[in-house]
Formats: sequence, C-alpha cells, structure tokens
Amino acid sequence: MSKPRRLIVVSNRLPITRIGSGAGSRWLTSAGGLVTAMVPILKRRGGCWVGWPGGTGRSQRTIDHEGIRLHSVRLSQADMAGFYHGLSNRTLWPLFHDAIRTPEFRREWWKPYVEVNERFARATARAYRPGDTVWIHDYHLMLVPAMLRAMKPRARIGFFLHIPFPPEELFSWIPWRDELLEGLLGADVVGFQTHGAAQNFSRAARRHTDAEGTDSELEGQGRSITVREFPISIDFDWFDERARMPESIAEAEEIRRLVGRERKILLAVDRLDYTKGIDHRLEAYELLLRSGAVNVRECVLIQIAAPSREPVREYAEMRTRIDRMMGSLNGEFSEPGRVAVHYFRRTLSREEVVAYYRAADVMVVTPLRDGMNLVAKEYCASRSDTTGVLVLSEFAGAASQLRQALLVNPRDTEGMAEAMLAALKMKKGDAKFRMAVLRSMVRRHDVHEWADSFLEALAA
Ligand code: ADP
Ligand code: G6P
Repeated sequence: MSKPRRLIVVSNRLPITRIGSGAGSRWLTSAGGLVTAMVPILKRRGGCWVGWPGGTGRSQRTIDHEGIRLHSVRLSQADMAGFYHGLSNRTLWPLFHDAIRTPEFRREWWKPYVEVNERFARATARAYRPGDTVWIHDYHLMLVPAMLRAMKPRARIGFFLHIPFPPEELFSWIPWRDELLEGLLGADVVGFQTHGAAQNFSRAARRHTDAEGTDSELEGQGRSITVREFPISIDFDWFDERARMPESIAEAEEIRRLVGRERKILLAVDRLDYTKGIDHRLEAYELLLRSGAVNVRECVLIQIAAPSREPVREYAEMRTRIDRMMGSLNGEFSEPGRVAVHYFRRTLSREEVVAYYRAADVMVVTPLRDGMNLVAKEYCASRSDTTGVLVLSEFAGAASQLRQALLVNPRDTEGMAEAMLAALKMKKGDAKFRMAVLRSMVRRHDVHEWADSFLEALAA
C-alpha cells in the first residue's frame, strides 16, 4: 500500500501566539476560524505547519505543539506594518468583505507583502520532501502558490481562501490584482467557501490573466487548475462531547445561576471585527428593550468579543464604539442585579466558550459579511440536548447550509429585533425540530469531511 502523503499546512497565523518577549513571554491559543478548523485536521493526519508565531520577537525555528510540528516564520516591525496590518488587513480584508470599510491602496505595503510571501515560500520549500502535499491558506499568502511552484515544480499545491472572494467589479480595484491572481494560479486546486466566491475568482482570472476555461476548471501557466467551493466546518464530535461533559453542564448551570435562572440568555461570540456586525446587533437589542417587547427581568445579552488587530485604526474605532454602546445600553436599561448586557472583551478557552453555548437560549450570529462563520456551527454542535435557537445573518457563508436558523439581514434593525424576539418566544417543538436538522447538517459535514474532500481533489 502506498504511504499517505505528508501534509504541510501553510498559513500566516500559527495555532499558538506568543504574547510578550523574552523570559516573560507566554503562548496563547490563537482565536479565529482558520486555527479552529486546521488543528483537528493536523492532529488526526499528522504533518507540520508553517506560520508566524505572533509578534516580532525571536522564537525557536521549530516548536512541537500537541503533536504538530510548527515551523515559525519571523516578521519584523516593518513587515508587520506593511504586510500584516497594511496590505493584508487594510487592503485585502475590507475589500474582500464588500468594502465595509474603505480599503486603502498603498504602494509601500506591496513590497513587504511580496517579501513576506517569498519568506513563507522558502520556509515551505525547506520543509518540503518529494511526495508531500502542501496546503496554503488565506489572503495573507496569495502569492505563495506560484512562488513555491517555481521552487518545487512537481509539488501538489492547494490553496484555500477562508474569507469571501469579491465580485470582479470590486476585485479589480486592487492595483496588484494580476499578480495576486497569477499567484493563486500556481496552485493545483483553489478552494473557496461558497460557489459564488469560486465563480468570482474564475471570472477575475479569465479577465485579468491568460487563464481560460470554465468556472470550475481553468487552464493557465500550462497546467489545469481546479476551482471549487469547499464549505469549511468544525470538529463536531469535539464540541458535542465537550458539551455533554459534567464540567460543561455544571459551568453552564453556574452561568445561568449568576445571570438569574428566570432570564433567557441571548449570546454572541466574535472576534472584535467590524465585519461581525456587533454594533448592528446591539442596536437591534436596544430596539427590543426600548419598545418594551422584552425587559431585563426576562432576558439578558452576553457578548464575548476577542480583541483583534488592534493597531489597525478601524479596529480600535470599533472597540471604542462598542464600549460606548455597551455603557449606554446598561446605563439606560439595567436594573439592580440585572444588567441589560454582559460584555467580556477577551479571548476565552474553547472549553469556556462551550459552557456559554450550552447556557444560551438564543445564539445571535449576525455578521455583515463572513466567509463561513464557525461560531454558528459550534453553537449547534454544542446543543447536544437539541434545544436552543440560532439567529443567523444571511450574509454568512454558513447561511447556505444552516437553513433552519432564523435568517436575518443585519442591516435591517427592525427585522433583526423581530427575529430575536421570535427566537426568544419560539415554541419548544419548533426549536427542537430546527436544532435537530441543524445538528445533523453540521455532524454530516464536519471539518474532517471538508479536509477529505479538498485533499481528494488535490490528489486527483
Ligand atoms: P473568524 O474566523 O472571522 O474569527 P469564525 O466564526 O469562523 O470567525 O471563527 C471564530 C473562531 O474563534 C471560533 O472557533 C470561535 O469559537 C473563536 N472565538 C471567537 N471569539 C472568541 C472569544 N472571545 N474567545 C474564544 N474564542 C473565540
Ligand atoms: C480570520 C482569517 C484568519 C485569521 C483570523 C484571526 O479567520 O480568515 O486568516 O487568522 O481571522 O485573525 P488574525 O489577524 O489574528 O490572524
């Protein structure tokens, strides 16, 4: 029998992030969907991960983390500014999310983006052995497929984009659009979260490069490139099992006791990102309270938000805006012993997040645009007793799979308030039916199925 191919995962963010430097530094689990998805894959299959350990300090070149070998790529202060906070998070991230914030196009960010991509390609080439499969991830590393192809022409190279791919009209704003497309065309398989994103890419590639072909199969650079959607998912069994554990049940019970057992809990868990619609959600909740449709004796909102990309101005502004809105909501609607909203601006452990999922009657996931959104899937997987209601934005990739959620347009404040109210008042039978369908969807299409289908396409 032939040996399975060794897997090399390449992404900007490693599964652990170093906080601080020198003797006082410590490692934290990284937040974000990419890490949540890829850790169980590498744990099951084995292999290694090439990525950045966070910060600009020195760290060992290779680190062993939960049986996964991590190869670290260093970034300098200047790389952080140009490659990470600049081109990745002030140009590509906002542009690929419907230009929710105005993207900036600065020439001085392009050079570090190219240089850091080269560094990642070289680090991957060093880890590469003939026969390995290389799987490159996300918008930070769009040039790596072609760079690595030049170094290792016979390698099987896959690329998966975790965020949306915008329509050609938006994509063509980027002064370096041709280079980015050529970079991706270096892969054998280019995967996206949705069919629409895959189509957008193929159209842009046909328009701006020499590639020809259909939406799902392009010919370019003398090779054929498969373009397809592979909707990402979660490790269903881990969340399901964790939620059934006595510790999780007890922690959830304690959360309910602390907020008041008679109150229904609405929960939101996000990275603190302007794409997540946290402010729109708070406006809808405020409307519910102001209209008298609900009051703080009956319900409470818990918002858990992991700080993210804080040196980027738009993120700092969002944080300040959310802080202010929280203060205003509580100032206006709280009563003694009953705050309107609990706000935790921190990254919790996965186990703690599960306890909150278990405690929550209603999960409110309302991004303005999201590649997939794993929080919505994690909530369903954690509802092992098939209770709980999911309110979900129709602009999350997950909406095309999780049809039994209450789907909302987050820009329609009244509509979102109505959906939150409907979720709070939903009859038990209806809620159970919906949750059972949602859970079976996430169980059937878990992260292992996702990785299998991508890697099968790459092996073909
Ligand atoms: P994104 O990748 O854009 O952050 P996703 O919803 O796909 O959005 O994935 C977010 C991941 O990060 C989930 O696994 C979620 O559990 C985790 N996460 C988000 N916020 C927090 C938080 N405050 N504490 C701990 N984990 C969090
Ligand atoms: C999203 C992106 C990931 C990224 C994560 C956290 O999930 O798709 O590539 O790692 O957000 O963001 P950060 O900038 O902290 O890596």
